[in-house]
Amino acid sequence: MNCNGFKNPGLEVYRRVFRNLPHDVPLIVAVAGESIDEYATLVEGLSPFGDLVEVNISSPNTRLVYELSSKPDQVRRLLKAVRAATEKPLIVKLSPDFDANNYTAIVPAALENGITIINYGNTRRVTAPELSQGSGGLSGPALYANTLANVRRLRKEFGETIEIIATGGIDSAEKAVQLLESGAAAVSYFTAFITVGPTLPRRICEAIVKRLAATGGRSVADLRRT
Ligand SMILES: Cc1cc2nc3c(=O)[nH]c(=O)nc-3n(C[C@H](O)[C@H](O)[C@H](O)COP(=O)(O)O)c2cc1C
Repeated sequence: MNCNGFKNPGLEVYRRVFRNLPHDVPLIVAVAGESIDEYATLVEGLSPFGDLVEVNISSPNTRLVYELSSKPDQVRRLLKAVRAATEKPLIVKLSPDFDANNYTAIVPAALENGITIINYGNTRRVTAPELSQGSGGLSGPALYANTLANVRRLRKEFGETIEIIATGGIDSAEKAVQLLESGAAAVSYFTAFITVGPTLPRRICEAIVKRLAATGGRSVADLRRT
């Protein structure tokens, strides 16, 4: 569980940092704000430095961010505003606490605005007296079954109109491959960086190569289609 908010040195500092950040793999910049204008300002200010931009509407530790998922009309306006703020590919990061709104309103609103990459998703909100704020976000293995269920459901309901980044509880190469074969285009993780360590991406890549060798070189994405 964590209750980290978004304390940070601000947009201009990040602009300086990103300007001098060499990268030879695609860089995703991620933003969250407390108003539609703030999201748009951040996307406009940071998108020149990233290859993709992720719009986080799901962190449970910042009230106005978390509440967005219960206000689909506001999310629709927000997505329209961020779409107008950059030409870079956008990702919307969803909360697994709001499945109903996500499927009926928020993913459709993303698609309406030409946003086709869905990151499902963030931590789940929990109340816990031991946290300094009395509540926070739950991450780690407890999320995995739900992550897998959502990848399958998203693929079933939205077909090939979206690309899915699966996040939540990935702590082994087997889980990553299972998600890729179930419909995810990419996987991401946070907690296992601490519990497993920085070698996990390498192990995931090795597992994908092994899987491809076993299937005669067809892509992992092809496997889910068969
Ligand atoms: C300490 C901590 C800080 C996080 N900060 C952010 C954040 O700033 N923005 C965000 O979108 N997600 C944030 N997350 C959520 C993770 O990116 C991820 O969606 C979530 O932890 C589920 O994945 P996991 O089980 O692999 O950790 C944070 C998670 C943790 C544990």
